[in-house]
Amino acid sequence: MNSRKPITLHRLRELHAAGEKITTLTCYDAAFARLLDEAGVEVLLVGDSLGNVLQGRDTTLAVSMQEMAYHTVCVARGNRTAFIVADLPFGSYQESAEVAIRNSVILMQQGAHMVKLEGGGWTAPIVHLLVERGIPVCAHLGFTPQSVHALGGYRVQGRDETAARTLCREAEELAAAGASMLVLEMVPAALARDLTKSLSIPTIGIGAGGGCSGQVLVLHDMLGFPGDHPRRFVRNFMEGSSSIEAAVRTYVSEVKQARFPDDAQHSF
Ligand code: KIV
Repeated sequence: MNSRKPITLHRLRELHAAGEKITTLTCYDAAFARLLDEAGVEVLLVGDSLGNVLQGRDTTLAVSMQEMAYHTVCVARGNRTAFIVADLPFGSYQESAEVAIRNSVILMQQGAHMVKLEGGGWTAPIVHLLVERGIPVCAHLGFTPQSVHALGGYRVQGRDETAARTLCREAEELAAAGASMLVLEMVPAALARDLTKSLSIPTIGIGAGGGCSGQVLVLHDMLGFPGDHPRRFVRNFMEGSSSIEAAVRTYVSEVKQARFPDDAQHSF
């Protein structure tokens, strides 16, 4: 059993202030929560990517609140010290701040320490209200899977100057609204690096290069499960590892030492 103290929001802020990379993986059940916690992963993201990897769906759009609540409580039961972030699924916060609060309360009561929602400036008032009511929020910009149809597929975001400027403005708005962390998905490494330097809150990158404050991958991707969409930014950590736990420990160590991701190989 690891001897680390529970990872709190305060501890995540300390890591960020010290320039130490924050390690995150998605997690959907108690068995993996125990293993990832023991292997030193700091943040477990109960991602709505469970719609893809567990349910075999093409997108995350059909994942329900009941399913998110179920997987959140499973992760919370297996976890001892990691910080748990749970995704608000599609349709659970877009309608109104009241609906967002009600659904966030459900996830927090199942054991989440923070909720995550996708989207730009329009989510800032929702973030503000959630934070005001004691619910920490992680924002998510760049490629946002719940908007896959609006974005025209799985595409890198923020490539041109206007899109990059909009992304930076939205990140500032979300930080000002009280978001404590920001996931940046599939954005050019140089943009993510500059944004990370200018923001007061940590960025957690996935396909956003090594300049982010931390990294996240979908657990099944980094364990080498074949997916529908091969992703440039994924590394199979099972290659050369004798066990799942060894693969996860390698991921933690590679992220901490800023050896993963490699901007030339895994970034845009
Ligand atoms: O649902 C998820 O797994 C996510 C990550 C891709 C960041 O949101």
